[in-house]
Amino acid sequence: MNNEELLQMAKEASQNAYAKYSNFQVGACALYDSGNTYKGCNVENASYGLCLCAERNAMSTAIASGEKGKLLAVAIYSPKTKLCWPCGACRQWFSEFEEGQNIKIVLENRDGKAVEFPIDEIIPNRFELVQ
Ligand code: THU
Repeated sequence: MNNEELLQMAKEASQNAYAKYSNFQVGACALYDSGNTYKGCNVENASYGLCLCAERNAMSTAIASGEKGKLLAVAIYSPKTKLCWPCGACRQWFSEFEEGQNIKIVLENRDGKAVEFPIDEIIPNRFELVQ
């Protein structure tokens, strides 16, 4: 699966967005080294703080589906903007699944092309639990 294909799946997922409060639809697609992909969309709530982001929805779906592979890449798309950067909470979620495989974040650039960013670039010095 290449970046363009992954971005296309994120686009498809954005069509299922439940974004009746913000009207800002987001879709995501997570790719694992098993070859499996999982789509997610944002799901909003009348209690605004409970809104769920597309990226965390996709990663939660992977876990709930029993995915045991390593997370390789997550594509994110919104019909409302180019370069739909992930929020800080989703960046921390990506880092949770980072196991030295240098996860890539794939976005659509202003020319409509898929561009990738390594996770270390978008969440440097991430939090790690030390016990
Ligand atoms: N949203 C995402 O789905 N992913 C992000 O990384 C940032 C924001 C959603 C949450 C909310 O439903 C809408 O975008 C506006 O904030």
